[in-house]
Amino acid sequence: MTEKDFIPKLYSNSIEFGSFTWSSPSNIALVKYWGKKENQIPANPSISFTLDACKTTTTLKVSKNESPNDFSFNVFLNEEKNDGFKPKIYIFFKRIEIYLPFLKEFHFDIETNNTFPHSSGIASSASGMSALALCLMSIEKEMNPTMSDEFFNQKASFLARLGSGSASRSIQGDLVCWGKHKEITGSSDLFGVKYPFQVHDNFKNYQDTILLVDKGEKQVSSTIGHDLMHNHPFAEQRFMQAHENLSKLINVFKKGDLKSFIEIVESEALTLHSMMMTSMPYFILMKPNTLEIINKIWSFRQETGLHICFTLDAGANVHILYPEHEAEEISEFIKSELVAYCQNGHYICDRIGFGAKQLPI
Ligand code: PMV
Repeated sequence: MTEKDFIPKLYSNSIEFGSFTWSSPSNIALVKYWGKKENQIPANPSISFTLDACKTTTTLKVSKNESPNDFSFNVFLNEEKNDGFKPKIYIFFKRIEIYLPFLKEFHFDIETNNTFPHSSGIASSASGMSALALCLMSIEKEMNPTMSDEFFNQKASFLARLGSGSASRSIQGDLVCWGKHKEITGSSDLFGVKYPFQVHDNFKNYQDTILLVDKGEKQVSSTIGHDLMHNHPFAEQRFMQAHENLSKLINVFKKGDLKSFIEIVESEALTLHSMMMTSMPYFILMKPNTLEIINKIWSFRQETGLHICFTLDAGANVHILYPEHEAEEISEFIKSELVAYCQNGHYICDRIGFGAKQLPI
């Protein structure tokens, strides 16, 4: 597939109004995407667990645009009009207009709700952009009813990517790869694909407890962060390492090798933060409590031999990952030892999910 394959030919049907609702999950990367080329092409491939509880539900109400020379839309977050998201969505519409040429014909009311608090420090861009992309694809599907499900999902991921790279991994599947990798069949820089190989039962229903260490606005936007990988002294080694880690994970998933999984995932998290610490300008996004939690996890793992590990995204919050069969002891430990390090004791219990769902009107 190339970008051109996503430019539609003539549509067989037309619509005048409609309403479409999709619920789309967040995801947590195991091998991290950090650094991109032009047009949201990732500098390295990444893989993520799709989440279940952390999601965005978006309803797109479609009517006629009375002034079709520009995009026309309103955004409502939790029933309240929210102009703060408009610039990001405007840029998104501009980027995807060539692939959805009908955008200016309609006025859109975009009504969106997150299951997690907006100020939780959990990025809503992956779930939010993927939910919006899916709603837009539902319009295109009405205009082109013969479209296959495979194409629908690929194009939804392709469009979501143009809103936020990690959003490309929130459409379909429990484990999703995005970015061309020589050993992963069907992988592409343009869209996310379901991980195509065998996955051991150890990884089924993997748990993710998210400790909200710092619920403030992100200090560094991911756009700035990705940009700092240009001219970064360690960029090339880092991109190579991501390819290697993804290769290693293939065997890890197949064998159910939890020990190697932990090594790769924690190393990826710390490498992501090392990249930020060694860019110019440099940043530290971890907080003292992030490090307290990491050290406690390491001691607990050493003492008990349980397979608990952590990962981080571009912030201070900690995702604690562990297999379902160890959930009882590990969640006891989290409650008694780690929740004290969360802002106002807040944390979210999540687990692997299976992707976005369309909701009835
Ligand atoms: O999707 P973006 O542009 O917000 O970038 C997300 C980057 C990380 O969350 C730090 C890593 C990843 O692969 O999700």
